[in-house]
Amino acid sequence: MKIFIGSDHAGYELKERIRVQLAGNGYEVEDYGTSTTESCDYPLIGVKVAEAVAADHATLGILICGTGVGMSIVANKVPGIRAALAYNNYVAQYSREHNNANILVLPGRVVGTDMAMAIVRAWLGARFAGGRHQRRLDQIEEIERKFSYPETIPAGSQEMP
Ligand code: RB5
Repeated sequence: MKIFIGSDHAGYELKERIRVQLAGNGYEVEDYGTSTTESCDYPLIGVKVAEAVAADHATLGILICGTGVGMSIVANKVPGIRAALAYNNYVAQYSREHNNANILVLPGRVVGTDMAMAIVRAWLGARFAGGRHQRRLDQIEEIERKFSYPETIPAGSQEMP
């Protein structure tokens, strides 16, 4: 299983620990940075991980920023991405079982390393349950399609001033 991983400066140290742990457990991990604790902009890293996951349905992603909110917002802008911000094991587990989340977002400034590792384990250990949950994901995809194509933009609003 291939996992794309990325963080901003606020998630850097946790990202490094998770990266090493996952690689040690046999996962193929591709790191999109950041590579220092120097301040950087989370959208630029989040979008790279999200695009990589969206391009290959057999992969997953892990994103980390301070609160997890910024990375969640960014990742969920990319069509096909279902990014879940998880602060505990329960949310992590159900984000896969019910939402088939393909990106896990962690709040690097909120959870400690042991907790974060437990969340990652819970997430990776869970499987999508399908059934009624697939119907809801299909509805989400329909919403995504509605807002992804230019023909949904009201007539006239594309004209240059
Ligand atoms: C960086 O200071 C912080 O804003 C960022 O890591 C994240 O929490 C944004 O949502």
